Amino acid sequence: MSFVDSVSKPKHNCPIGVFDSGLGGLTVLSAIHKLMPNEDIVYFGDSGRTPYGTKSKETVLKYTFQDMNFLVKQGVKMIVIACNTASACSLKTVRQHYSLPIVEVVEPGSRAAVSSTRNGKIGVIGTAATVASGVYENAVKTLLPECDFHAKACPMFVPLVEEGWWDNDISKSIAAEYLGDMKTSGVDTLVLGCTHYPYLQKVIGEVMGDGIVLVNSALEVAKSVRDEIAKYGLAADSDKVGNVSYFTSDSVDKFASLGSVFLGEEMKNVTKVAIDKEWDGGAFGEN
Ligand code: DGL
Repeated sequence: MSFVDSVSKPKHNCPIGVFDSGLGGLTVLSAIHKLMPNEDIVYFGDSGRTPYGTKSKETVLKYTFQDMNFLVKQGVKMIVIACNTASACSLKTVRQHYSLPIVEVVEPGSRAAVSSTRNGKIGVIGTAATVASGVYENAVKTLLPECDFHAKACPMFVPLVEEGWWDNDISKSIAAEYLGDMKTSGVDTLVLGCTHYPYLQKVIGEVMGDGIVLVNSALEVAKSVRDEIAKYGLAADSDKVGNVSYFTSDSVDKFASLGSVFLGEEMKNVTKVAIDKEWDGGAFGEN
């Protein structure tokens, strides 16, 4: 596809592009930045259109192309889909259209779950779109065919996180409501299959009880990014200090103030982008 092919002459000091439907992907960004502090990163959070998880596959696919095209235009050397929903709905299709390396979140999280489980019972929680896609079940059962697999959609978790309600009575009772069956199922490993969910780790852990391992795929994803960078010879100069810049499709002030809470440090360099205008109609619709 011409738009994509025309931009793919990656240079090692170009930034890594990371995107999510909103702020959840900051868990992944932080892990990448910690592991590779010399890499520049461009983050796009589509807060103007979040959540993705309640939307149709076609809509998520369209948004994913727009987000990726925007990042490609920023001159990124690779793209990290820091959103399970976008990975679940679009990965196969986008891989056919972009020639630069793409890292997603489902495979690294599944790998971590399989190496963590002791009783072979693995649970995954995610958005409605991610759970309906079956991508985690496929990925986990490919790695561990005899696995007893359980999945649950928790659609209220994303708005709770975006609202900053990570540990209050409302988040606790919603978590208890969603996770009752998961707890009864006896899983010993629960994948947080949405990049927003690590912010609810405390309440989720309390509901699931002692002995549960919660898999936050952010670190695994960061390791995959490091591996891909090495594989393609794309590592930035080691003496470089990595710069992080942010783009959002919604209010800069809201994104920066909540983003600072998410990051645990001041979020600087935030710019608003009209993401609909980045749309390249040629790529979407061919599949
Ligand atoms: N953080 C995203 C995910 O990992 C999307 C949440 C949403 O927008 O519904 O699935």
